[in-house]
Amino acid sequence: MKIGFVGKGGSGKTTLSSLFIRHLATTGAPVVAVDADINQHLGPALGLDDAEAAALPPMGGHLPLIKEYLRGDNPRIASAETMIKTTPPGRGSRLLRVDEENPVYAACARPVRLDGGEVRLMATGPFTESDLGVACYHSKVGAVELCLNHLVDGAGEYVVVDMTAGSDSFASGMFTRFDMTFLVAEPTRKGVSVYRQYREYARDFGVALRVVGNKVQGPDDLEFLREEVGEDLLVTVGHSDWVRAMEKGRPPHFSALEAENRAALETLLATADAAYGLRDWERYTRQMVHFHRKNAESWGNERTGADLAAQIDPEFLLSEDAVLALPG
Ligand SMILES: Nc1ncnc2c1ncn2[C@@H]1O[C@H](COP(=O)(O)OP(=O)(O)OP(=O)(O)O)[C@@H](O)[C@H]1O
Ligand SMILES: [Mg+2]
Repeated sequence: MKIGFVGKGGSGKTTLSSLFIRHLATTGAPVVAVDADINQHLGPALGLDDAEAAALPPMGGHLPLIKEYLRGDNPRIASAETMIKTTPPGRGSRLLRVDEENPVYAACARPVRLDGGEVRLMATGPFTESDLGVACYHSKVGAVELCLNHLVDGAGEYVVVDMTAGSDSFASGMFTRFDMTFLVAEPTRKGVSVYRQYREYARDFGVALRVVGNKVQGPDDLEFLREEVGEDLLVTVGHSDWVRAMEKGRPPHFSALEAENRAALETLLATADAAYGLRDWERYTRQMVHFHRKNAESWGNERTGADLAAQIDPEFLLSEDAVLALPG
């Protein structure tokens, strides 16, 4: 299943996604952690030192490889150059699994050891359009979106994405890729205004969205969030001394995380698991096609000089069965 953490800048997206990833790791489940922020912070939050974080390969810098691999021998996609961030998979495309070895992970993912387990970490990376040498790209998180659209994820395996605060994800459709979106909100007007904006988009596309209150300090904070967010408020997290110690570069063993924060992580996991149970592959496929058409019309066709709607395979349904039907 795919889980996104979104919210206002500084609200605690990276912190809470890293805690959630650490929690998942202790369960032994396969996990791919994705830092979709160009200011890469997830690596350090998972305990990488500066050199290790800097050595993470940027997905954006591997776009040609990613496109060439995912394209496979899909006859509707003439070349990697005509593949844009929203180009959907079709018959002949290669799909990714959470728990496998593949050239995309080999190029872009790095193992990160955590207390009690290991996860794969991928990062968008700090890159600019000029690094890419291709004209058909205008999103920094495009590589992530391509991978999410080609990823077949099952129950009990997790892709956790630490998202940017920006509106990039609405234009591209990235915000529709998650079984569960956790909106991290501090108990402030700005925190809940980001929630309200997100909720509008989410509602139109049937995106499952729950609010995780963060830095909640007392009854006043809780009351504020309850009033502003209502039943979308899933759980709240207070100040964590464990997090503070981690930020000092002295992370205690993860088992020393405060009991109430561990309970909050268990709630997040149970909520995500339940949401995956409602996954509708048909809608999931239809939405990627919808956003591809939109992007093709608004800029893709012009940039590539091709009719990108022709990349859509009307017979193709992304699902776990799609993997079985594909070679290797
Ligand atoms: N529950 C918490 N307890 C203690 N410190 C926290 C908590 N949540 C967040 N912080 C601290 O607040 C700061 C901002 O958090 P974080 O970097 O996770 O936010 P973000 O939403 O990812 O920010 P950005 O938008 O810049 O990516 C960090 O220094 C983090 O350690
Ligand atoms: Mg962050």
